[in-house]
Amino acid sequence: MSHIDFDQPVNRENTHAVKLDAREAVFGRADVLPVWVADMDFAAPQAVTDALSERARHPVYGYTMFPDSLYGAMRDWFRQRHQWSFQREWVLMAPGVVPSLNAACMAYTHLGDEVIIQPPVYPPFFSSVRQTGRQVLENPLLAEKQEDGSLYYRMNLAHLEQCAARPQAKMLVLCSPHNPIGRVWSEAELTAVLDICRRHNLVLLSDEIHCDLVFSDSHRHHMLAALARPDDQLITAIAPSKTFNIPGLGLSAMVIANSGLRQKMADVLESFHMPQSNPFSVTGFEAGYRHGGPWLDQLMDYLQANRDFVVNQVAQRLPGIKVSAPEGTYLMWLDCRALGLDDTGLKRWFVEQAGVGMNLGVSFGANGSGFMRLNIGCPRATLEQVVERIQAALGTRQ
Ligand SMILES: Cc1ncc(COP(=O)(O)O)c(C=O)c1O
Repeated sequence: MSHIDFDQPVNRENTHAVKLDAREAVFGRADVLPVWVADMDFAAPQAVTDALSERARHPVYGYTMFPDSLYGAMRDWFRQRHQWSFQREWVLMAPGVVPSLNAACMAYTHLGDEVIIQPPVYPPFFSSVRQTGRQVLENPLLAEKQEDGSLYYRMNLAHLEQCAARPQAKMLVLCSPHNPIGRVWSEAELTAVLDICRRHNLVLLSDEIHCDLVFSDSHRHHMLAALARPDDQLITAIAPSKTFNIPGLGLSAMVIANSGLRQKMADVLESFHMPQSNPFSVTGFEAGYRHGGPWLDQLMDYLQANRDFVVNQVAQRLPGIKVSAPEGTYLMWLDCRALGLDDTGLKRWFVEQAGVGMNLGVSFGANGSGFMRLNIGCPRATLEQVVERIQAALGTRQ
């Protein structure tokens, strides 16, 4: 495959992109550098664009099924890339991973039950539980200070065990790899989680949407299902949306080996007519998994260089900010606590003084207070500007 130039900017203006067009509403300024929402500024793999263009050329956009070839492409991908095999019958399609989280709360828990999550974590982990009338039970990650002052996060397994033992706790939602702190959980950590859930009869939903975005200098990603037993109460949520930068197409899958759990989920999805897909999501999904591998390999090299660039630049040029290298995802977790601002002040400072639009850490949970999330899925030149602008703003503070 020919070299892909990820440095080449793609103009996303006039595409109704949330990352660009919602800036005014979210930040109060339309000119902040858009390094927030978790999509990338890169063109999707050419094979995906070609498949979508070809589909668009057929002028009837009617109700669309999930073809066998789609399941085949997905199963081949996970067998080859993740050494994980699953049966076609175990798969339920869904219009996204977030809808799947809400559906899981409804399928596997009752009103008032507790659902365990591990903050700081992707905000819909909180909202899916609350919106469905369940209660969030927090098992916060532990942050260990490293030699350079940056943080390395681990699970608090002893506390997880205590949470799991509570009579109202019915489900754990795992984020693997973890957004926003970028951990790729080790086999030992994942095995411990499975064990705790088994002993306390918890349903376990593993959101592995970032599973393909793992850096080559980290340990490899383990699909939880590949470590599990067939009768474990496990739901694995996967999607090509982050992998191939097609989240706007809105299609994901859940793999559920346990037939009882699968039926409960199927019933909830059915009740909302949620599995309805569209001609483009089906086409993009299959083309990504079938042809996107070589593109992804080049993407990961580029993202790794972006990650290393940010780590070095922050250390050299941004006093008061600390960051550690994530093991996976294209998200970086900036520790800005030494700037001495509260969260409202932090958001305002980055927007008004620096002109940089990042996600506010506290939206990922109370232990995200004082942090900001940076999206590095963009040309390096954008990150150069981010560093430039923050450095200049820091300069005016002293
Ligand atoms: C952990 C995690 N789950 C789910 C999603 C979104 O999934 P979807 O767009 O399929 O609802 C994201 C997007 O950032 C994410 O980071």
